[in-house]
Amino acid sequence: MQTANPKLDLAHIRAEFPALNDEVAFLDNAGGSQVLRRVADRVRDYLLTSAVQLGASYAQSQDAGSKVLAARRSVAELINAPFDDEVVMGSSTTSLMFQLTSAILPTVQPGDEIIVTNTDHESNIGGWMRLASAGAVLKVWEVDTETLQLDLATLDTLLTPRTKWVAMTHASNILGTVNPVAQVAERVHAVGGRLCVDAVAYAPHRLVDVQASGADLYAYSFYKVFGPHYAVLWGKRELLLSLPSLNHYFIGPEVLPYKLQPGNVNYELSYGCMGISDYLIDVGTRLGGTGSARCRMQTAFDAFERHEDMLCERLLAYLRERKSVRIIGMDSALHGGRVPTVSFTVAGVQSESIVRHTDRFQIGIRFGDFYAKRLVDRLGLQPQGGVVRVSMAHYNTPEEIDRLVTHLDEAIP
Ligand SMILES: Cc1ncc(COP(=O)(O)O)c(C=O)c1O
Repeated sequence: MQTANPKLDLAHIRAEFPALNDEVAFLDNAGGSQVLRRVADRVRDYLLTSAVQLGASYAQSQDAGSKVLAARRSVAELINAPFDDEVVMGSSTTSLMFQLTSAILPTVQPGDEIIVTNTDHESNIGGWMRLASAGAVLKVWEVDTETLQLDLATLDTLLTPRTKWVAMTHASNILGTVNPVAQVAERVHAVGGRLCVDAVAYAPHRLVDVQASGADLYAYSFYKVFGPHYAVLWGKRELLLSLPSLNHYFIGPEVLPYKLQPGNVNYELSYGCMGISDYLIDVGTRLGGTGSARCRMQTAFDAFERHEDMLCERLLAYLRERKSVRIIGMDSALHGGRVPTVSFTVAGVQSESIVRHTDRFQIGIRFGDFYAKRLVDRLGLQPQGGVVRVSMAHYNTPEEIDRLVTHLDEAIP
């Protein structure tokens, strides 16, 4: 029988990631997570057994084609996509967003309104801004600089019957705040608009469910979720079908998802990504999870969340005590609503100098604006070199946080 709140077996978990070791405290996971052995094994296996071109009638080509389709099925299940052909894959979230907005460009009418936030990573802002060249009117949903939240009431003042697109992040890669995307989707749909969500900073910490998100488009990168440098963009089928093809003239708008994957997907990385789902199902099953693959994955993510909240609160409890520290985001992990990506500044101290100090002790954290440049500019943090960011994953240990705190304490006056 499953115990109420089963705990992660950290020794087992860490052994799944060959690059983890006790010497280095790796706390730069929002930059990119460590990679599962299962993922690397699959990439290798594909390259060494299936490196043929797809679509031919000979057996190896058929077999390789089945592997790539199975990989897409696995990603569809991981994100809860209703249809496999709604799953578009590409090299990064940034490139998928630029591809997406290039496809949308010819559909833009002068006066169409597009809302972006100033808390997003630039990858879910820049491409949308370029649509102004076709006459779109850009509006910015600004963060409340006191609460550091995106207020729904502010969004309401921006939405109009001319709103065509709203682009936002599911969780900020600086603030760590999880945004209420389903509530946003309701509001956007009520005026006839569409919602595009960047989930790069969210997906390592919660089981993605594109249907529950309410979004029309939803993207994230696998290299933040224990996989390779590769990414997925999901879109509602009727929406994807309505977009022009980005592919050759003979690949028509009805050819999903190939029309949005010029040059096709990367076969070995697609196959490698199946290792992510294998891992999550395995962790969930070991924790006593039963039922469907997604039920087991949910059991794994529930345990990740409890563990990550504990780690995050351990760090925040220290930071809250330091008078010179300003936490840039929610200052507690006790009440939900945040992922374990913690940013802060220290009065009178350059963020770089804090990080240079912890570098000396084999601790991987970093400083800067993390391409959420508009947020760091708006908060006036650029002169300090941006924020210091500590980003945890489920495989981090309380001992790593304690070690970080010891060395932060030497650098924070
Ligand atoms: C929140 C967020 N969105 C988008 C990106 C861009 O992802 P990619 O490197 O796959 O383009 C990042 C990368 O750090 C990110 O943190």
